Amino acid sequence: MADTPQANIGVIGMAVMGSNLARNLASREGNTVAIYNRSPEKTRAVVEEFPEAGFIASESIDDFVASLQTPRTAIIMVKAGKGTDAVIDQLVERFEPGDIIVDGGNALFTDTIRREKAVRETGINFVGAGISGGEEGALNGPSIMPGGSAEAWETLGPILRSIAAVAEGEPCVTHVGTDGAGHFVKMIHNGIEYADMQLIAEAYDLIRRGTGKSPAEIAEIFAEWNTGELESYLIEITAEVLRQVDAETGKPLVDVILDQAGAKGTGAWTVQTALELGVPVSGIAEAVFARSLSSKPAQRQAAGDLPGPDTSWSVDDPDAFIEDVRQALYASKIIAYSQGFDEIIAGAEQYGWDIKKGDIAKIWRGGCIIRAQFLNRITEAYDENPDLVALILAPYFTDAVTTAQPAWRRIVVAAAQAGIPAPAFSSSLSYYDGLRADRLPAALVQGQRDFFGAHTYKRTDKDGTFHTLWSGDRTEINAEDTH
Ligand code: 6PG
Repeated sequence: MADTPQANIGVIGMAVMGSNLARNLASREGNTVAIYNRSPEKTRAVVEEFPEAGFIASESIDDFVASLQTPRTAIIMVKAGKGTDAVIDQLVERFEPGDIIVDGGNALFTDTIRREKAVRETGINFVGAGISGGEEGALNGPSIMPGGSAEAWETLGPILRSIAAVAEGEPCVTHVGTDGAGHFVKMIHNGIEYADMQLIAEAYDLIRRGTGKSPAEIAEIFAEWNTGELESYLIEITAEVLRQVDAETGKPLVDVILDQAGAKGTGAWTVQTALELGVPVSGIAEAVFARSLSSKPAQRQAAGDLPGPDTSWSVDDPDAFIEDVRQALYASKIIAYSQGFDEIIAGAEQYGWDIKKGDIAKIWRGGCIIRAQFLNRITEAYDENPDLVALILAPYFTDAVTTAQPAWRRIVVAAAQAGIPAPAFSSSLSYYDGLRADRLPAALVQGQRDFFGAHTYKRTDKDGTFHTLWSGDRTEINAEDTH
């Protein structure tokens, strides 16, 4: 332990994300990094493996705290949940007013709101920061989404800016908003990530089953797509995954991997929160459900003999079909982002955050899993009109879906006819058609609600709230008059 505090920042939790983030911090000019892990063997292993980092390692939380210069700043990188609360308690006991505790895990934003409120009462700052980019991002430059107070951001901002990814000369970090805003936006990032991954998987499946191309051949298609408007990290890694051959069997690795997708829960949180906020994030929801369906082996096996279309399907013009899939993917992806930003807008309103949508798109351009070329277009759209009611209504995106929609419809029809599940493609198209519909059958739903529950309805031709006496003389009454 150091006699005088030497470290300007500390990291708690030496699993791979924590140790990589600590190494990233240590590699930046002017930083001396303190590290601590509950089991000291882990800390010792990290010190031994990365001597160049010059870590100040502690084997007790007291020593860790003593090694930090004031205002003390510690980033917690432990598995989200109870462990986070335990570490926060330990720090709160030892920190002083003005010090900063950062939670860099994937915490549920409502937990962050609760923790921030409790910690703030002690005069200590608590910042929930979403950090995206996986292990590699943590080491070389993640996208960082911090919440918390403006005061904490003043101290923390320069440190986070120094370790964040850089996109077009700008660090991928911004003060998202107060208390849980950072973790809220990270949650939406993950929801969009789920939708994007599911859409890509559907595109791959349709191409494979429609054209008979091999995973390696499809890898080339994705690599080609990555040079155009779909350019993104997820498209890039999809090509890599499809190219991979299993060393043991010589088969494409994708054919050897069990077709059951796991989830740690952030996608489900995005959907649960959207349900509470009343925001239709249908693409994200379908992506979460598609993983759930995949992970029901007993049900899937039992249903394996259910009838489907009896023709074996192949497309007549593979090149035209692949181009249709590309366009359907782009249009559906725009919908996923549009829905994700709708949820950000609703969350900001509900929780009183001043979230700059254009800045969020900017910090997602580098470092994070959903980094993509077209995020620049999102920034432009919100810069041009910060009050845009739906991203899809920005001229660039309206043009893009206008161009893509014939292909999008052909693909959804083809998938349905061939009996190939494409839940994210088709729900995105339905959402699009729902949004642009002149009249929705919601009128009938309101009629049904009024019939069985006297839930009332509004009329198209006059103000007021109405209820029909359905089983009586069917006279309409103005429900407001009855109160
Ligand atoms: C990131 C990722 C990261 C992670 C999640 C999602 O932004 O770096 O989103 O947070 O991969 O744990 O994982 P699941 O697919 O397991 O829910």
